[in-house]
Amino acid sequence: MIEHKHEIVIIGAGIAGLAAALEVAIAGKDVAVVSKVFPTRSHSVAAQGGTAAALGNMEEDHWQWHFYDTVKGSDFLGDQDAQAFFCQEAIKTAYFLEHIGVPFSRTEDGRILQRYFGGHYSNFGQGKPVRRACLAADRIGHAMLHTLFGQCLHYKVVFYNEFLATHLILHDEGCAGFLAWSLAEGKMHIFQAKAVLLATGGYARLFEISTNSAINTGDGMGMVLEAGLPLEDMEFVQFHPTGLYPWGFLISEGVRGEGGWLLNNDGERFMSRYAPEKIELAPRDVVSRAIQSEVKAGRGINGKPYVHLDITHLPDELIKEKLPQIREMCLKFAGIDPKRHPIPVAPAAHYSMGGIPVNINCEVLWNGKEEPLPGLFAAGECACVSIHGANRLGTNSTMECAVFGRRAGKQMAKMVDKRDFLPLPNRTLKEKMEEIKELLTRPSRQNITEIRERLQKSMSQNCGILREKWGLMKQLEILHQLKIAFKEVGLRGESLVFSLAFQQALELKHMLNLAEAIVRGALARTESRGAHYRTDFPQRDDQNWLKHTLIFKKGNQFVLDYKPVVITQFQPEERRF
Ligand code: FUM
Repeated sequence: MIEHKHEIVIIGAGIAGLAAALEVAIAGKDVAVVSKVFPTRSHSVAAQGGTAAALGNMEEDHWQWHFYDTVKGSDFLGDQDAQAFFCQEAIKTAYFLEHIGVPFSRTEDGRILQRYFGGHYSNFGQGKPVRRACLAADRIGHAMLHTLFGQCLHYKVVFYNEFLATHLILHDEGCAGFLAWSLAEGKMHIFQAKAVLLATGGYARLFEISTNSAINTGDGMGMVLEAGLPLEDMEFVQFHPTGLYPWGFLISEGVRGEGGWLLNNDGERFMSRYAPEKIELAPRDVVSRAIQSEVKAGRGINGKPYVHLDITHLPDELIKEKLPQIREMCLKFAGIDPKRHPIPVAPAAHYSMGGIPVNINCEVLWNGKEEPLPGLFAAGECACVSIHGANRLGTNSTMECAVFGRRAGKQMAKMVDKRDFLPLPNRTLKEKMEEIKELLTRPSRQNITEIRERLQKSMSQNCGILREKWGLMKQLEILHQLKIAFKEVGLRGESLVFSLAFQQALELKHMLNLAEAIVRGALARTESRGAHYRTDFPQRDDQNWLKHTLIFKKGNQFVLDYKPVVITQFQPEERRF
C-alpha cells in the first residue's frame, strides 16, 4: 500500500472541494485534493442557469428576502440559522468569485448580470419574481469550476486525479485518514491527514433518468454510512422538472427564467392551474409534480411521458447569447432548433437535499446531533447543513458549494495547528483490505451492470416523485434481493489497472445502501413535504413531522432517529405560489 501524509486532504474536486482547497492554500497550509475524475470533469461543471446571491443588480433585492424564499422553498424543514448565514454569505461570495476571475455575464454598466429562477421573489414572497441568479450565459458551473481550478493550480494545491476514495479510517479520537484506489496504477493508497473534507457530491445516478454524470454515485455518503455515522433527511430527493426527454440531460430552469413556457398536449400553459401567481417560476417540487400530474391525466405530448418547454417566442439573439449551451444540446442531441420547435422535457433525478449531517462550520457530527467528530468535515451536495430542507431552490446549490466549501477550508486551516496526525489503526486497515481482497478473489456469478440497472429502474418506479406505502415496501424487498445478488459479484482474474469493474463494484455497494436509506426514510415519513410526496399522506404534518430524519447503518440493520428543525424567524405556513 502506498502512503501519503498531508495536513489537509479534500476528497472531491467540484466547486465545494476546490473552494475549500483554495482557502486552505491561501492560508499557507499543506493541502491535497483527491478526485475520482480530472477536476474539471467534476459534476459541478454541468451547472447551468446561475448561482444565487441577492445582489440587487437588476431590481431591489435583500438577503432577508432570499432567506425567506429559501425557508419557504425548503417547506420549512431547513435550519434557519444556517439559511440566514448562507444568504448573507452568498453576497460576499459572489464578489469573491468575481474577484478571482469568474467570467460572469454583465449588465450594460458592467455589473454581474442576474436572471429569474423558480422560488426567488421580492418582498418576503409577496412580490414579483426577482432576478437573483448570477449568470455566465448558461454555463455557471463551467465558469466557476475552471476559475477555481486555475486558482488552485496557482496556489500549488497538490492533486491526486482519478483516485477513488474507498473507506474512511476512523477511531475513537476522530478521523485519521482514508483509503483510495488509483485507477491508472490499480493500486491501493492510504492518506493520513489531520483533517479530511468530504466534498464528493450527490447520488442522483441511483435513478433511471437523471441530469447527473455517471460519476454521481454518492460515494462519500456511502463511506460515512459504512463507517457507522448517520445520514440526514435522505428521503428528500429533488427531481428537476426539465430534463431533455428521453435522456434527462439538464435543460436549465434559466430557460423558464428567460421566459420559456411549459405546455401540455393541448397547448395549454398548465402551470397556471398549479401555481396561479408564479406559474413557471414556482419551486421545482411544485413544477415536477405538476408535469407528472399532466402526464398521468393523459395530457403528455402524444400520450407520452413528457411535456413541451417552448421558447419559440423568445428573440433569436437572447437564445444565442444567454442560452447557447441549451440551444446546442437541443440541436445535437434532439435534432431540434429551439427557436423553431418546442423542447421535449420530463422530470429527472437531480439533487440530494439530504446528506452527511454537519454543523455550520462543516464539521461532521458523530451522532448527527451536536458533537463534532474531530478531523472530519463535509461540504456541498454530500453534506446536510441543512439549508435546503425538503426542497432546494435552483441556484442555491452552486452557491452553497462556494459558501460552505470556503467555510470548511477556513475552519480546517485554523484547526490543523492545534491537532496532531492520528495513528492509522492496523486492525481497521486490515479489515478494509480483507473486504477488497475478498471481492477480488471471488468468482463472478452476478453482473454489476444488471444489478445497477435494476436498482435504478426500481428506484424510479417505487421511490420517485410520487410515493406510497406499498411501492416503498416493494422497493425494500427488491433492495434485499439486489443485496443478495451483490454478494455474488466477484472480480477474480480482473486486472486492477483501469478496472472499471472494480470502480463500479465499489460504487454499487454504496448505491444499494443509500437507496435503502432513502426508502426507509420515505416509508417512515407519513406526510408530504417538499420533494417527498406520499399519495397516501398528501398533507404536510407539522405536528408529527417537523423534524429531521437521521439514519444509521448498524451491521445490516438500518436505524432511524430524529432531531428538531432550527426555527429562528419564520414559523411554518401554508405554501402557495
Ligand atoms: O436549472 C438549472 O440551471 C439548475 C440549477 C440548479 O440546480 O441549481
